[in-house]
Order: sequence, then C-alpha cells, then structure tokens
Amino acid sequence: MFKSFEWSYHTDRHQYYNDFSTRNDLYAKKQNNMCGIVGYVGRRDACPILIKGLHRLEYRGYDSAGVALVNPDGRLNVFKCKGKVSDLEHFLDGKDLGGNIGIAHTRWATHGVPNDANAHPHYSESENIALIHNGIIENYRVLKDALEQNGYTFRSSTDSEVLVNLIEYVRATSGCSLPEAVRQALRQVIGAYAIAVVEKGNHDRIVAARQSSPMVVGVGDGEFFLSSDAASIIEYTEDFVYVGDGEIAVIDRNAPLKIVTLDNHDAKIDIKKLQLSISQLEKGGYPHFMLKEIYEQPRTIVDCIRGRINPDTCEVKLSGVIDHRDRFVNARRIIFVACGTSWHASLIGEHLVESICRIPVEVEYASEFRYRNPIIREDDIVVAVSQSGETADTLAAVELARKAGAFVFGICNVVGSSIARATDSGAYIHVGPEIGVASTKAFTGQVTVMAMLALAVGRERGTVTEAYYNEVSAALLHLPETMEEVLKVAPQVADLAKIFTYAHNFIYLGRGYNYPTALEGALKLKEISYIHAEGYPAAEMKHGPIALIDAEMPTVAIATPDHTYEKTASNIEEIKARGGKIIAVIARGDEQVRRSADFVIEVPVIAECLMPIVVSVPLQLLAYYIAVYKGRNVDQPRNLAKSVTVE
Ligand code: M6R
Repeated sequence: MFKSFEWSYHTDRHQYYNDFSTRNDLYAKKQNNMCGIVGYVGRRDACPILIKGLHRLEYRGYDSAGVALVNPDGRLNVFKCKGKVSDLEHFLDGKDLGGNIGIAHTRWATHGVPNDANAHPHYSESENIALIHNGIIENYRVLKDALEQNGYTFRSSTDSEVLVNLIEYVRATSGCSLPEAVRQALRQVIGAYAIAVVEKGNHDRIVAARQSSPMVVGVGDGEFFLSSDAASIIEYTEDFVYVGDGEIAVIDRNAPLKIVTLDNHDAKIDIKKLQLSISQLEKGGYPHFMLKEIYEQPRTIVDCIRGRINPDTCEVKLSGVIDHRDRFVNARRIIFVACGTSWHASLIGEHLVESICRIPVEVEYASEFRYRNPIIREDDIVVAVSQSGETADTLAAVELARKAGAFVFGICNVVGSSIARATDSGAYIHVGPEIGVASTKAFTGQVTVMAMLALAVGRERGTVTEAYYNEVSAALLHLPETMEEVLKVAPQVADLAKIFTYAHNFIYLGRGYNYPTALEGALKLKEISYIHAEGYPAAEMKHGPIALIDAEMPTVAIATPDHTYEKTASNIEEIKARGGKIIAVIARGDEQVRRSADFVIEVPVIAECLMPIVVSVPLQLLAYYIAVYKGRNVDQPRNLAKSVTVE
C-alpha cells in the first residue's frame, strides 16, 4: 500500500538541474489541522531543544503550546497553556524541567477553543501517558463513547485526548508494549494524525506515528529529533527520515530507529540529507521575518534560477520538464491548482504559458477543483503550486488529478513536502524557508519558475520566437539586480504607508500580467493589516466597483508600460474624476500617469511578462509598513497559520 518514493535533495546548489522528478503512488489522503509537533530523546536537556523547535514551528499555529518531559527518575510532567510559545516560556519559569526526553506542541485550534485544557500534550486518564497530536480524529465521538462506558473521563474537548486514552486502554487491557498499543489504537482510528507519545517510567523512548500530517525524524549521534518540519531541527542534524503514511516510528535512544507499518511490517529506514543554514531560519537583524524575506528576494531569485539558465547561451533547462518532454509537448491543456498567493502566481502562470507555449490553461482554486467533479483527461497536465507543499486542498487536488490519469507537476518550496512527493515531477522554487505568514519571496519565486517553465516548454513546442526567448531569459538572469533596484523604494513606501495607515478600505487595480499582482497586493494588505482590500482588473471598475470611489477610498493602480497602459491611464482618470486618491506604481520617468496620480512609486522596467515580480515588491512593502504602523503582529496575523492543512 505504501510505496517508497525516490527523491533527490538538491544539496549541491550548483548542479545544472535542480528539479524533482518523482514517481510514486502516494497519496494525499485528507489532511487536517495545522499545529506543530517536536520531540527529542538523547543526552542533552530536552526542554531548551523543544522550546526552540516550537518557536520555529510557531508558523503552524500559535494559540496554545505545551511540553511533556520524562525526568531521569521516570516522572512524567506536562506543562501547557493558552497563548504563544513565549507565554509557555514564562509559564515554565521555576518548573521542574529536567529530562533528556520530551515532546512539545504548538496549536491551531480545531476541536475545542484555545485554552489551557485543550492545549497539548494531553495526559491519559492515569497520567501515565502523554500525547501530542496534529490532525483530526474523525471517529473520535464513537471512540469517546466507548471509553466513557469503560469509565474514562475527559478534561478537554479535544479529539486528541480520546486518542491518548484509547492507547492507554489498549495497553491496560492487552498488557502490550507502548508501541504495540499505539499501533492497535491507530488501527481503530479514522482521520489524520501526526502523534508523539511518551510514558511515565520510560525516559528512553518516544513512539510517533503519522497519517496524512507531516512528520520527520532527525537522526543524530546517540540522539533523535522529531518534528513536523525538518527546518525546525536543522541545526542539530542533516540526516532525516520522513515517516510515511500509516507508519509508526519507535525512537529509542539505546537502539536504531525502527519503523513499522500499521500492519506490523518493518518499514525501510531511508535516511535523506538536507542542508539548510540556520541563518535562513533567523530574523538576521530585521524586525520581522516578513521584512527579511522581502529583502531576501534578490538572493532568492539567484537561487531559483541557478543552474537552470545558462548565462552564456540564455538556454533554460528544467529537469522536471526534460524528463517528461513528450508530456509537455503533447499536453492538450494545463490546469494550475493552488490556493491564496500560490493561486495568484498561477494566474500569472496562465498568461505565461498561454502566450509562450500556446497551450490552453485553466487556473483553479484547489478547494473548488476537488469538489466539483472536474473533467480531467490523460493528456492534461495539472500543475500544483504550493509554497509549503502541505496545503490540504492542493494535495487533494493532486490526488484527484493523478487518479484521473493526468500528469501532475509540482511547483513547491519545501523540499520533501507532501505535494513534492505526491507529484510525478516538478521544480522547487528554492527560496529557502518562508516564515512570515504572508507569502512574499515564495510568490516571486513561483512566478520565476513559471516563466522558466513556459520558456522551456515553449522552445520544445516551437511556439516561442528566438528573440522573445532570449529577451525573457536574459531578463531573468538580470532579475536579481532589478530586485535590488526596486527595493530602493522602501523608504518612500514607508512614508506613503504613514499617510494611509488609517484607511479602512483599499482598491488595487492592474491589467494583464499585473491583474494578479493587484490581487496579491490586496491579499497582502488584508492579511497583515486587517484593512479591507480588493483587487480588480482596472477595466472592471466601471462595471460596478467605481461606485465605491470617494475621497476615503484609496486606489493602488499598477500602470507600468504594457499594451494596456493607455487604457489603465484612462481608468486612473476616471477614478480621479470621482475624487479618489491614487497611488500609482509606474515606470521610472513616466510623466503621464505621474500627472494624474496623487502619489507614485517608480519601479525599473523589464520584460512585460516578468513585471509582476518587480511590481509585487512595493506592494509587499506597503502592506508591511501599514501593518507595522497599525501595531499588527506582522509575522503571525490573527486567525492565520502558515501552512493550511485543514480543508
Ligand atoms: O503553502 P501554499 O502556497 O500552498 O499556501 C497557500 C495559501 O495558504 C497561502 O498562499 C496564503 O494565502 C498566504 N497566507 C498568503 O500570504
């Protein structure tokens, strides 16, 4: 049932091809719940390692947190509270935190409100076992009823507490070991989970298991680490074992790692190397990850194109395309599936692929695609776009497309992520860990990969002229310097943000390649500043939204040179005529729109199809500074989490 998968980790960033080409029959069961889990067993003090890991996983949820530690004398202590990891740290002051083994959790609530009782870890009834859980137990009600009939009581409203009591019940009634009790209990469970369990009296062993929620074991020298995300434990080891669906890992400091399936067969231990630098996970002197990530873009574009465009010949090569050349050449249609920012990038991908490859393209919200019985044919290519590679709806869309026989190509950032592993082939964007909840460098990386994809496929299909191919690939090669240039607008954008901090609504307008950029600018603003913002194609204004225009409704208009420039200029005039305030993003030296706009942000100009990459930078900065001036939590905005693994 669970096939092994091949994967190539791109530790050599200078290799010519750095894409993925995988074949496996996985998967994409229903994914649920965000949350981050971390574990440690070894010789060091567990608690500091767990807390650091939780900080790095906080992007997965931040409404409550907790740790469970087994002392050297076998006592099992659970400490947990509502709030962020920093609140947990205060709560831990003065507590008995000894022990070289522990598990920890940061939560994004699904079952039960965020409070102390619902925070993880959960004790079993006897307090002999503690469990952390990322996922949803769909049949928890039935299991809970059965446990209640057997005298169990519950302290929380979570499904997770049901699972820890089920494990305890199995262990008590059958007298089996903890790993066996976990296995037998999980065979009764319907749902999604990544769990870790420790027990009183055993300070050597963590039992962990996974079904449709990410989990990785880091292998050190006489020590093991466990996490939802390898990046959170990268400072301790480069050796990782990705736990597969339906697998149980027995992590014992005195024994080699053992993994068994739910059917009790030994699974292969396949250690992968992953290299990331710690500096990629720290703020590096910036006040927020988002600002750091905005400023990283010149470098992340370098990483994204490295080895893929030959600087001498401008030739673009993506191994994920080369390995499946015929599928791309003969594709009847390409369907992009994605959510949020990745969906906006996909809209730009649509323009790129249709104009350069002359293949019809559709762009679908993954959440709609998966539920509307879409027509998918075997000569379709489905391109799944996801920064995290863990988005539940996108993963489900991948599964649907594979079942229908389509070829599935992934554009992902997180190496080894579920979507990367579930697709037939793909290309990483290689922008490094994106920690701010608002996506920035992933968006520009995605569009960069899509441009390379379109050029590579367009050349194979003979649908792109030599001159245009060379113009765009040369512009891609110079993109890092262009990004350096555009970042110089930051102080001016910061001043503008002061003026507009108290606006209640915003409209963003763009056309052609920059219509999706307008949508993305609006999304950035609403998610981190909580100001209502809408993006529209500029010409749509007169079909309704123009009724909203008055002096209180600022409009951000993207009016960089393209074949609709004059029309956008007219749309700006229409807004001016109704008393609207205009912030225009224009090409350097453009006098025409400068005259009508109230404020302008000048950007350097490159090939039209790459302008969204450039224009998105001032829009990211505008959202960032407005959010900062409003005192918002920029990196962890309310109600959001970085990786949306709920439907
Ligand atoms: O990891 P993914 O790219 O699949 O995530 C998709 C969306 O959840 C994500 O882009 C979200 O919209 C961001 N918060 C946008 O900034």
